[in-house]
Amino acid sequence: MTAPQEQMSRMLTGYWVSQALYAAAKLKLADLMKEGPRTIDELAGVTDTHAPSLHRLLRALASVGIFAEDDRHRFGLTPLAECLRSDVVGSQWAMAVMNGEEHYSAWGELLYSVQTGKPAFEKLYGAGVFDFLSRDPEKARIFDAAMTGVHGRETAAMLDVYDFSGIGVLADIGGGNGSLLSVVLKRYPNLRGLLFDLPGVAERARVNLTAAGLAGRCEVVGGDFFTSVAGGADAYLLRHILHDWDDERAVRILKNVYQAMGAGGRLLVVESVIPPGNGPSFGKLLDLTMLVIPGGKERTEQEYRELFNVAGFRLMRIVPTGAEVCVIEGVR
Ligand SMILES: C[S@@+](CC[C@H](N)C(=O)[O-])C[C@H]1O[C@@H](n2cnc3c(N)ncnc32)[C@H](O)[C@@H]1O
Repeated sequence: MTAPQEQMSRMLTGYWVSQALYAAAKLKLADLMKEGPRTIDELAGVTDTHAPSLHRLLRALASVGIFAEDDRHRFGLTPLAECLRSDVVGSQWAMAVMNGEEHYSAWGELLYSVQTGKPAFEKLYGAGVFDFLSRDPEKARIFDAAMTGVHGRETAAMLDVYDFSGIGVLADIGGGNGSLLSVVLKRYPNLRGLLFDLPGVAERARVNLTAAGLAGRCEVVGGDFFTSVAGGADAYLLRHILHDWDDERAVRILKNVYQAMGAGGRLLVVESVIPPGNGPSFGKLLDLTMLVIPGGKERTEQEYRELFNVAGFRLMRIVPTGAEVCVIEGVR
């Protein structure tokens, strides 16, 4: 049993590892090792870094299972380090970069958000996160890839427990880069898709859906979900959308979905549902990210029930998945 002081010390220094991961990701060290282990001098040459310091970075990461040094003093990949490659399915590379930059800075101002209830991100960057991303294509690309890395495994978990057969057209509202819709459309060959997101994001999604051979089965619409949402779908899926916003704005989005939806339409909200009690819950920590970055929140079952009611929906059931999220189903 670890002493409380030791446990506390590990928690307090948690960012040492996350910032070391950020530096490794930014230098693309895992990509450089994909053909096999490399010496420090080779890696320092390619990355234009200070070799003795690069060695210290890799030695520290190897001590927690990320990278491993062999008996010829070369560093190579471990299963954990594989996830830091930028070119693998399930890659966490973009998340490591995003987490180490604006997210890290915003978390550094958590106290401000707790004192004011306002997102630290806006204090630091002078704009909301989605405005910020719309002005910086490179950061937007990394955000899209980070969403796939973080939420990608939730798609398979959702498909394992939720049956989409019987739905003719599935709209993915705030569907980002289209990765969720691509997987669902491939699983259900008779299903048609509709992706709705901000115009710049929708354009990137269109390119991805076309590359996936799905352009003929998926309409892509750019717009602002606070103004209106594209109509014509049987079910409206919103994954990690409502948690970005406070209650007032979440209700505005839901009301626009309500307007767009036909009488028998289905609402599918995919989010963490905060469990009662003191138990461990990823959602309770993700909630703090929502506080400091977009200014949103994770919610309890009761909070979702109330949000649905105010927007005109009835919450029918909550389907847990094998991942951190549930499918929260509503009807008009
Ligand atoms: C947290 S991401 C979730 C992306 C995707 N649903 C997923 O699960 O990976 C939030 C998405 O909402 C989109 N978004 C933000 N503000 C929007 C707005 N006003 N209208 C439409 N989409 C918006 C963003 O561009 C982004 O793709």
